[in-house]
Order: sequence, then C-alpha cells, then structure tokens
Amino acid sequence: MSWDVRPCASADEVRAAVAPIWHYFGRSGPTDDQIQRVARVLPAERMHAAWEDGRAVGGAGAFPFELTVPGGRVPAAGVTAVGVLPTHRRRGVLRAMMRAQLDACRERGEPVAYLWATEDTIYGHFGYGIASFTGEIELLRERSAYWAPFEPCGQARIVPVGEAEGLVAPVYERVAVETPGMFARTSAWWQDRALADPDWRRRGAGELQCAVLELDGGPAAYALYRVNAAFERGVQTGSVDVVEAMGDSPRTTRAIWRYLLDVDWMARVKASLLPVDHPLLLLLAEPRRLRFNLRDGLWVRLVDVGAALSSRSYAAQGSVVVEVVDRFCPWNEGRWRVSDGGAARTDDGPELRCDVTALGSVYLGGFTWAQLGRALRVEEVRHGAIARADALFHTGLAPWCIEIF
Ligand SMILES: CC(C)(COP(=O)(O)OP(=O)(O)OC[C@H]1O[C@@H](n2cnc3c(N)ncnc32)[C@H](O)[C@@H]1OP(=O)(O)O)[C@@H](O)C(=O)NCCC(=O)NCCS
Repeated sequence: MSWDVRPCASADEVRAAVAPIWHYFGRSGPTDDQIQRVARVLPAERMHAAWEDGRAVGGAGAFPFELTVPGGRVPAAGVTAVGVLPTHRRRGVLRAMMRAQLDACRERGEPVAYLWATEDTIYGHFGYGIASFTGEIELLRERSAYWAPFEPCGQARIVPVGEAEGLVAPVYERVAVETPGMFARTSAWWQDRALADPDWRRRGAGELQCAVLELDGGPAAYALYRVNAAFERGVQTGSVDVVEAMGDSPRTTRAIWRYLLDVDWMARVKASLLPVDHPLLLLLAEPRRLRFNLRDGLWVRLVDVGAALSSRSYAAQGSVVVEVVDRFCPWNEGRWRVSDGGAARTDDGPELRCDVTALGSVYLGGFTWAQLGRALRVEEVRHGAIARADALFHTGLAPWCIEIF
C-alpha cells in the first residue's frame, strides 16, 4: 500500500484528516459539533493528510495565527491535530506531513511555526526547539494569603459566557500583544474555542464561568473558571479550576486572582499553563504552597530564519554572527548577522554555531544563549559572543501561551 500527502480540499476531508488524532483520544472521529467548530478556525487547505486509497491515515493541521514575538507580531503556523494511525506508525508519514506543512508555511510567508508537543522526542527531528516551560499550581485556599495586605481594586461581576466576548477580548488583546507566545484571537476563536463550553470539555467539573473585573468604567481583568464542588463528610474538598485569568496591569491581575482564591466552599485553586514568571509567585506569602510544577511548554520552529529574526526586536546595540545548521530546511543554513536592525546573511566568520532548534529556544525569550551554552547546544566560536547574543535577545518576560491548541 502507498500513501501520499496533500492538503484537504473540503470540510469532509478535514473530518477524515483529524480522525487519526481522535483515535488516540479513544474516539473514531469528531462529532458534527466538534468538526463544525474546527472548520470555523482551521481552513481546509491548512490541514494536510496522508491519503491511502481515499482514506486518511495521518493528519497535521496549522492554524493561521498572528504570534506575539518580542516587540511585534508575526504570521505563524499554530501546528495542531497531528496524528498517524497506529497501523501506519514509523513509516515516515509524520516526516512527509511535516515536509509538506513547513514547505507550505514558507510559501505562505509564515516565518515561524509553533506547537505544543505530546512527547518531547517528536519535533526536534523537524527543527523545533523547546521555547518555554509552563507551570501548574494546586493551592490550598487557606494558604493563599498575599504577602502584603490586599487593597481592593475594581469590582468583579459574573457575566454569562455567551455575552462575555465583548468584555474579555479587549483585555486579552492588551495582554496578548505584549506577551511573546500569545496569539491574536479572532471572534471565531472566542466563540468556538475559548468561550465554548460543550459537555466534553467540562471533565466532570461545572459550567464555564466568567468573572469580569471592571475598573474606571471598563473591563480590566477577567477569569474563566469552573467550580468543581465536592464534600467529604460535610468538609469541603472541591476546587476552583482556573481556565484562564489575566489583568491588564499588576493591580488588576492581583485583584482577579484574589477573587479566584476567595471563592467560598472551595478547598483549593488549580491552574495550569501559567508562565514561569507568573506574578502569583511573588504575590503570595507562601509561594511554596503553590506546588508550582513545571513541564515543557511551547516548541518553536523558525521556518525562515532571516524573516523570523528580523520580525522581533532586540534589546541592545551591536551584532552577533550565528552559523545555523538546518538539515530539514536547508534554505536556512549559513551565517546570519543578527543586530537590532534585523538579520541578514553574511560571509563574515561565525561567532556562534548552533542547530536551528537552538534559535527556536531563544526566539521568544524563554531561554538564554548562556543556558544553551551550558547544555552544549551552542558552540561559542568567538569568546564573548554568548554574552553579546544574550544582551541582544534579552526580553525580561517569559513566553506565555494560555491554551493548548
Ligand atoms: C507521533 C506520531 C505522529 C509519529 O508519526 P510517525 O508517522 O510514526 O512518525 P515518522 O515515521 O514519520 O517518524 C519520523 C521521525 O520521528 C521519530 N519519532 C516519531 N514519533 C516519535 C516518538 N513518539 N518518539 C520518538 N521519536 C519519534 C521517528 O523515529 C523518526 O525518526 P527518524 O527520522 O530519525 O527515523 C505518531 O506516533 C502518533 O500519531 N502518535 C500519537 C499522537 C501524537 O502523539 N501526536 C503528536 C501530537 S503533538
């Protein structure tokens, strides 16, 4: 049997192409509701599949995102729904889909692709580098005091999720446009993803709730969360499960978290997908009680090294010459002079030498060149080049993406 990879041409083909990943969720395919939601945010031609006798044996999609990078935004592929049926694993199906997908990104002028990986061993083969870590917390409510007396700020009110978009989207956008790793949400994304509350997303918890914090007459913070009520012999054991919470300033962020930490009846507050520099770490009197757990977060692939590096800002003057090795996308190979004016090819001697995965790791600011050096992931050809590169790439803000896409 042989298969070939091409993009989908219809919603029916998208349904077939996502079936392989659904297999791993224990389902033969998406429901009508699920596929309609997918179709509204994922154009058919952005879903590649490996076809065998008219049947999809693998699929790989790419949301057309506008990704925030240090100092700006860049068109980026948000890679999603990647799966190969167990009947066809380890025959190069994923490799062929990654080939077609990255070639398509390049043709479209998307200099960056990024994703969440189910296993850390998969995407390095295709030039993705680990770009951030993300934190999970589980905090006993009785140990959630702030280190300083809380000064109330604004007024929270609960709004029906069906009416929330107009209130929460501007807050999200103010935060997202400043935060590397976040992407601009369309209205369809709000309706079909962020504010969608079908039964299968609840996983035993309550309905999606939305609290909006208003300050000076407008929304300034919000929280999406679920109440997971439980009692044992009359004692509360339930939790507030935070889906997303943010404020457009330190004061409103502190206030919306205080709101979440103070919901009566709850024993705990749980949240995940937090940035490693989340303000709660310094807001709380007992940060240890957060039980802050780390796992890998985003993986970034520079599809077009020159365009990607030229799309972000740099924090210092001067430049550094990086020699890049990129076996999967050889058009990126060679020497690049990176400066606050962007990146351009050069014949000058290399000062740093690395695989393209290393550029993915430093691109959003989640890792430093010094960290790469200590892990032997970059070779410092000229003494002092790592320090110079770190001065250039410095961001002062950890990358954050609030949702797994
Ligand atoms: C992960 C998955 C997509 C791989 O598909 P595949 O068609 O078997 O992969 P390929 O045969 O094209 O392998 C390409 C390369 O990646 C490696 N690879 C693939 N999956 C891997 C894994 N899970 N762990 C380690 N290496 C892996 C292969 O060994 C191969 O390496 P090589 O080129 O050096 O020989 C498939 O196993 C799958 O669908 N898994 C379950 C769902 C999943 O995890 N999807 C990813 C969502 S982010």
